[in-house]
Amino acid sequence: MRSLLMKNATLQEVPEILALDQLCFGGIWSKQGYEREIDSPNSSILLLFLKQDNLEAQLIGLGCLWSIVEEAHITLLGIYPDYQGQGLGKLLLTSLLQNAVARKLERATLEVKTTNISAIALYQKFGFKVAGRRKNYYPKTGEDAFILWRSGLEKPEFITELETWKTQIHNILSSQYNLLPENLKQH
Ligand SMILES: CC(C)(COP(=O)(O)OP(=O)(O)OC[C@H]1O[C@@H](n2cnc3c(N)ncnc32)[C@H](O)[C@@H]1OP(=O)(O)O)[C@@H](O)C(=O)NCCC(=O)NCCS
Repeated sequence: MRSLLMKNATLQEVPEILALDQLCFGGIWSKQGYEREIDSPNSSILLLFLKQDNLEAQLIGLGCLWSIVEEAHITLLGIYPDYQGQGLGKLLLTSLLQNAVARKLERATLEVKTTNISAIALYQKFGFKVAGRRKNYYPKTGEDAFILWRSGLEKPEFITELETWKTQIHNILSSQYNLLPENLKQH
């Protein structure tokens, strides 16, 4: 049986994080960039590991948020390509939003390529709305970004919504993965 484990990043995991960054984002942050984020109290990097039998746990997902005043800036969200399309992106985004709630943040925001249909669909599913467009936001390609916002994180109904999403995602994933509750706690 395969198990999923979610944890906060530590400096020890930076080499694996860089490999995943390369695959998911084409090398967006440097080693020093990740080290800075891991050390920063205003930043959370969540890692999703897959553990199979006696093999070493493999890093298959990564999400990062910055806490700025009462806003959660979601800076990275990526699932290893072989594992996309199974619900793991939703699992990671739910955990990032739970982290934002635990930090008592009120709004979440992010930038996403206007052509990134799957990511936009994922965020919209969680109530993010397009609030604007940044022209030529991505220097390598000159592509535009949508600015997305999700408000109401501090409201009790959002906590209920998060719990509902989590249950739905766990129900879907539990046919393929071992999802013991203690495995999915953030440490
Ligand atoms: C965006 C990303 C994190 C989504 O992760 P994922 O594990 O594939 O997503 P999930 O399987 O949880 O799917 C979540 C939702 O995204 C949407 N989605 C996923 N794949 C899709 C596709 N190929 N086409 C359209 N929508 C898609 C659907 O709305 C889906 O919900 P549903 O299954 O209930 O219909 C992943 O594709 C990824 O790592 N992409 C590369 C990095 C990136 O672009 N990150 C976002 C930058 S802001």
